[in-house]
Amino acid sequence: MSAIYIGVMTGTSMDGLDLVAASFDPLKIHATLTLKFEEDLRDQLMALSLPDDNEIDRMAVAHVALGKMIGNGVNQLIEDNQLDRSQIRAIGSHGQTIRHRPESGFSLQIGDAHIITELTNLPVVYDFRSRDLAANGQGAPLVPAFHQVLFQHHSIHRVILNLGGIANVTMLPAGQPEQIFGFDTGPANILMDAWCDRYTGQPYDENGNWAAYGHPIRSLLDRLQAHDYFSKEPPKSTGREDFNIDWLHDQLADWRNDLDYDELEDQPENVQATLMKLTTRAIKKAIYRSKEAMPTGEIYVCGGGAFNGTLLEQLRWRLRKHNWSVQTTEALGLAPIWVEATAFAWLAMRFCEGQAGNLPAVTGANGLRVLGSMTHI
Ligand SMILES: Nc1ncnc2c1ncn2[C@@H]1O[C@H](COP(=O)(O)OP(=O)(O)O)[C@@H](O)[C@H]1O
Ligand SMILES: [Mg+2]
Repeated sequence: MSAIYIGVMTGTSMDGLDLVAASFDPLKIHATLTLKFEEDLRDQLMALSLPDDNEIDRMAVAHVALGKMIGNGVNQLIEDNQLDRSQIRAIGSHGQTIRHRPESGFSLQIGDAHIITELTNLPVVYDFRSRDLAANGQGAPLVPAFHQVLFQHHSIHRVILNLGGIANVTMLPAGQPEQIFGFDTGPANILMDAWCDRYTGQPYDENGNWAAYGHPIRSLLDRLQAHDYFSKEPPKSTGREDFNIDWLHDQLADWRNDLDYDELEDQPENVQATLMKLTTRAIKKAIYRSKEAMPTGEIYVCGGGAFNGTLLEQLRWRLRKHNWSVQTTEALGLAPIWVEATAFAWLAMRFCEGQAGNLPAVTGANGLRVLGSMTHI
C-alpha cells in the first residue's frame, strides 16, 4: 500500500486548520478534518500578523499553542478514521504565516513541529518556504506544482484559482508543463471577511449574498486598485501586511475626503460589493495577461471562496467574452476545501523523496529546490 502523508494547512483567512490524509499516484484521500481556532489563539495569531509590541514573546507563545493544536488535531484525524499509524510516512505542516516579506527575503510560519512530533510520534516536514526564498524566490505560491501534477490537461487550457484570504492563479497551458505560470493576484476574502465581520457580525459573507445586494462604488474601486501590488509584475506574492482592515480604513478615509465622494454611495454593502469587484478584476487581469498562450479554457476554483456563488457568477460574467468556463475543483474530483492541505501532504512526499517542490517560473527562485526541514521520531 502506498504511504500516507498528512497535510496540515492554515491560510491567511485564519478560519481554522485543515487536515488531510492522502496518498499519491493515484491521489487518494483517506481522511479529512477541519478544526476551528479557539478565539483566543485566533486573536493572538491575527495580532501577530502586523507589527506591535513584545512580538518575540507573543510569537513564541502562539508557536507552542499552535504546535499543540496541530499535534492533537493529527491524532484526532488518525483516531476518528482508524488510520494505520505505521502507514503514515510524514506530516506536512505549513503552519500559520504571521509575516510574509519576500522583498526582505523571509516568510515566517509558526506552529512548533517538534511538539507535533512529540504528540504524534510522526516525522514532520515544515518550513516549506525558506529554501525558495533563500534561492531568491518569493517562497510563494507553492501549490502550483501540485496543481500541475493533478490538473494539467493535454489539450485544454486550465486555470486553477485558489480563493483563500489571498487569491492565487496557476496557469496550466494545455500539454506544456514547462510553460506553467502563476502568482498571487491580490486579496480574495481577507478584506471582505473583515468588512463583513465588522458590519454584520458574521465571519464571512455567506455565498456573497450581502455583496450581491450592494453596488460597486467606482471612485472607491479606482482608489483601492491604485495599491502598488496590482501594478507589480509577477513573480509576486502578498499577504496581510499588504491588505488588511487598517489599510482599507485609511483608503475609505481618503475617499471620503475626495471631491468625488458621494454620501449616498457610502453604504456598507456597497463597500462589500466594491471589495468583491477588486478581487474579480485582478483575477480577470491575471487571466487575460496570458491570453496569447491561453485564449480560452477552463477555470477551476478551490479554497473557501469556491462557496461564494456571487463571486463565481461575477467571474463568469467578466470572462464571458472569451468563453472561459468557471467551475470548482469538485468537477475534477477534489473538493475545493481540501486542495491546499492536500498540496502540503504532496509537498511532504516530495521532501521525503528528495524531489523539488517549487516551480522557479512561479516563485522566481534561481532553480528547483527541495522544500522544508524535517523532525525525526
Ligand atoms: N459558504 C461560503 N460563502 C462565502 N464565502 C465562504 C464560504 N465558505 C468559506 N468562505 C470563505 O472562504 C474563506 C476560507 O477559505 P480558505 O480556503 O480556508 O482560506 P485560507 O487558505 O486563507 O485559510 C473564509 O474566510 C470565507 O471568506
Ligand atoms: Mg482556511
